[in-house]
Parts: sequence; structure tokens; C-alpha cells
Amino acid sequence: MAKIISVINNKGGTGKTTTVLNLGAALKQLKYKVLLIDLDGQSNLSRALHINEPKNHVGELLLGKCPFEACLTEAEGMDVLPSVSNLLDYEYLINNEPGREFLLREVLGKTNSFDYILIDCPPSMGTLSINSLVAAHHYIVPMQAENFAFIGLDRILQIAEKVKTRMNMDLELAGILFVKYQTRTKFGQAVISNIAQNNYLKNKLFNAYIRQDINLMEAPAFGQSVFEYAPASRGAFDYMNFAKEFVKRYGKKK
Ligand SMILES: Nc1ncnc2c1ncn2[C@@H]1O[C@H](COP(=O)(O)OP(=O)(O)OP(=O)(O)O)[C@@H](O)[C@H]1O
Ligand SMILES: [Mg+2]
Repeated sequence: MAKIISVINNKGGTGKTTTVLNLGAALKQLKYKVLLIDLDGQSNLSRALHINEPKNHVGELLLGKCPFEACLTEAEGMDVLPSVSNLLDYEYLINNEPGREFLLREVLGKTNSFDYILIDCPPSMGTLSINSLVAAHHYIVPMQAENFAFIGLDRILQIAEKVKTRMNMDLELAGILFVKYQTRTKFGQAVISNIAQNNYLKNKLFNAYIRQDINLMEAPAFGQSVFEYAPASRGAFDYMNFAKEFVKRYGKKK
């Protein structure tokens, strides 16, 4: 059975898409079978792999209009369940479905083809994000070590707790991943030491963190992960380091 991981933060621009793309590519390099799911109408993950406005996509799948296999596209040796720019129209219809929070879990329950399934969430806690938490075993919260980064974190934790109690007993916070980290700034270090004093969260910080790296920003313009675009870069090193820590803590045995 696949490990299903939701990458979630209701704040925009916190590195969700970058993490799904490059954690996925790192797991692929480690010889795991990977599915990436784009649940965001911005379609940044799909575009980052040069999948533009596909006919078959996650919205069609969740509404039962397209069989699972037919909705997948291949990119860099991974399978991708892409999104489209009018996904909001689908979300509107999904909101009228009975059991609307369970649609993703239902479709993923039918596949046994993957080791890891990574879900890229939109920057909101609407029905699609809740679907990802209902389907997932773990969730990862990427955030920048910057002022106000923690505002909103409580809300994500509270919502996840409700999902766990009401809909998905298996759900666990895998951890908080710091991205765009600048080791030299005192500020970044202060934020991390601050969180390390919080009793609940101190065990929930990944040791690995992702440094600021222009290659992570440039790679999507070429339709690539950082492992294809700049395999010797800091970004590739950091995401591989993170993938190894993730597999060690929560992963599947091969
Ligand atoms: N470690 C990094 N170094 C440099 N740039 C980064 C890094 N991580 C992410 N970025 C850049 O920061 C921006 C936001 O990242 P990303 O798109 O992954 O965030 P997001 O949480 O998915 O955003 P949204 O909420 O809009 O979906 C992008 O331009 C991305 O290329
Ligand atoms: Mg995104």
C-alpha cells in the first residue's frame, strides 16, 4: 500500500509545490514508484512538468468522469495526476457530492501501483485540501523561517486534528519543513530555536531543511525537477537529504 502524504499550508508561497515536485523526484531517484497529485487550480505543479490544461485531470477523476489510469500523465519517470485552471468549477460540483471529503480517498484506495503518493494542496483549507487530509497517512507543512510564518499553523493543526477524529484516524503530522532557509541570518536561527521550545512542535521539525537556491525557482520554467535541471545544486542535495530523512522516519521498506 502506498504512503500518502499531503503537503499543506493555508498560506500561499510557502514551498508546497516545490516540495512535492522535488521530494517526489528524490524518491524516484531512490527507486520508489511515485505519484504526484496536483490539487491546486493554479496548476503550478502540472505546469512545472509542462503539463498544460490536460483533458483528463484530477477534477474529472474526483467526479467519476474519467477512470484513474486515463487521468495520469508521465513525467520524469513519475506519474502525475494533473490539475487545470478551472478546477474551482469542479470544486463547486464536488461540494454538492455526498461524502465530498472522501472522494480522493475513495479513488486512491483502488490503486496499488505506487510506493509514495504526494499531494500538492492549494493555499486554502477548502474541500480539496480536506480531501487530501482524509486520504493521507501523513502531512508535511513547509514554511519559511520568517516573521509571522507560524500565524495560521495553529489553524492547520486544529483542522487536521478534527479530520483525524472525525474522518481519518491514521492521519499524523510528519513534520514542519523549513524552506528557503538562509543559514547565515540570525532571524532564521531565532525562528527555529523558538519553535524548538514548543513542547508539541519540537519533535516535529525535520532535521533536514531546504536552503534558498535559485535552481529550485528556475527548474519549473524548463519543465523539470531540480534533479534534472541542476543535479549538483544545493537544492538537489537538500531535497535528497530530506527524502532520506523522510524515508527513514516514516517510509516504506523496499
Ligand atoms: N528553497 C527555495 N529557494 C528558492 N526559491 C524557492 C525555494 N522554495 C520555493 N521557492 C520559490 O518560491 C516560490 C513559492 O514556492 P512554491 O510555489 O513552491 O510555494 P507554494 O506554497 O506551492 O505556493 P502556492 O501557495 O501559491 O501554491 C516559487 O517561485 C518557488 O520557485
Ligand atoms: Mg503551490
